[in-house]
Amino acid sequence: MLNGKRILLIVAGGIAAFKSLELIRRLRERGAAVRCVITDAGARFVTPLSLQALSEDRVYSDMFSLTDESEMGHIQLSRDADLLVVAPATANILARMATGMADELATTVLLATDKPVLAAPAMNVRMWTHAATVANVETLRRRGVHFIGPNDGAMACNEFGPGRMSEPEEIVAAIEAMLAPAERPPQERPLAGKRAVVTSGPTREAIDPVRYISNHSSGKQGHAIASALAALGADVTLVSGPVAIADPPGLRTVHVDSADQMLAACLAAGRIDIAVCAAAVADWKAARPAGSKIKKKAGMAPPSLELTANPDILATLSKSGPQRPALVVGFAAETENLVANAIDKRQRKGCDWIVANDVSSAAGTFGGERNTVHLISAEGVEDWPTMAKDDVALRLAGRIALQLGRPRRAAAAE
Ligand code: CTP
Repeated sequence: MLNGKRILLIVAGGIAAFKSLELIRRLRERGAAVRCVITDAGARFVTPLSLQALSEDRVYSDMFSLTDESEMGHIQLSRDADLLVVAPATANILARMATGMADELATTVLLATDKPVLAAPAMNVRMWTHAATVANVETLRRRGVHFIGPNDGAMACNEFGPGRMSEPEEIVAAIEAMLAPAERPPQERPLAGKRAVVTSGPTREAIDPVRYISNHSSGKQGHAIASALAALGADVTLVSGPVAIADPPGLRTVHVDSADQMLAACLAAGRIDIAVCAAAVADWKAARPAGSKIKKKAGMAPPSLELTANPDILATLSKSGPQRPALVVGFAAETENLVANAIDKRQRKGCDWIVANDVSSAAGTFGGERNTVHLISAEGVEDWPTMAKDDVALRLAGRIALQLGRPRRAAAAE
């Protein structure tokens, strides 16, 4: 619930603005007070009157209105809120936020605030994947702005891909995770007091300053596991390779590029109880990455690339010793002999569980929303039905909570 919480909702100009009306309704149902700021462009998609009727508060838009300033200055407007939510967060407002512009009331409030900010991006897929937007989102993330979505799907512009604004209920869940994580009753927080590290996404291994070795991992599964563990009360550090999805709310995200950096970030998290290695770590890196761009010259044979092994993060974290987490979970991505290879992998890596998933192109796991997995432990093999990656994450987190609730066993010795 969000009883007594005050949300300042900033509505920018995108077709998804109609969903913000529903968002206001849902937030108020959960006990939050909602005050709206609308941009000039936003007012072309929804009327201030609709926002006013649903929020039962006046709507702010004009920076220079004397009434606004006397009743509520832009500083006070942002300070009075517990959280600022930008929905829809268009490419334009994200760019203005990233460069610190204060060209209308909404952006001025965002610049003046000392409160957490959650943005729900909504834009055409090409705008979302454009290097300018990618850089702006990265800048804002590093400054602590939280993101929810966007989702994949069909868009108003007849294209398909990431760019659809998250649904109102998803935004409400993200707001609750940010504002009320401690309000879940203790019986729903079985992992309270446990510390977890989750690796997610691909790694990027530099060949030279402009080229790299990487893979297709989207990070969706690892990020969902981090969120699910946090929802059950764990203190989670998510170590993410370069991904196009948002940092989940309610936990700490550390951004890395290479496997070496990923391992260092895991070790820097200190003593942990749970490690889930869902990242698709590149097995190899360039033995000697070039300091400047490798140039081709007429008649030159293609250069050969000498590779060297990356550190195995899962195997490193699984090593026995006083620092070993109580539970180490790895993933196995296989295109054939899934279960047999995964059983073998569990033994080789020394981890407690392996979540084995089929990444043959027919299964559509990479980048898709669903996953078919098998959980391999010392007790045997469980076949889980095909389900959404979020549900795989919830089920896995639930199993982890069950395991760590049991009397402690020497898991590594099983
Ligand atoms: N892993 C890791 N560090 C590496 C390589 C892999 O932490 N350098 C982890 C992954 O996060 C995953 C598991 O190990 O949990 C996957 O093991 P890996 O040996 O890479 O297996 P696959 O990717 O399944 O492929 P392969 O067929 O090469 O064994």
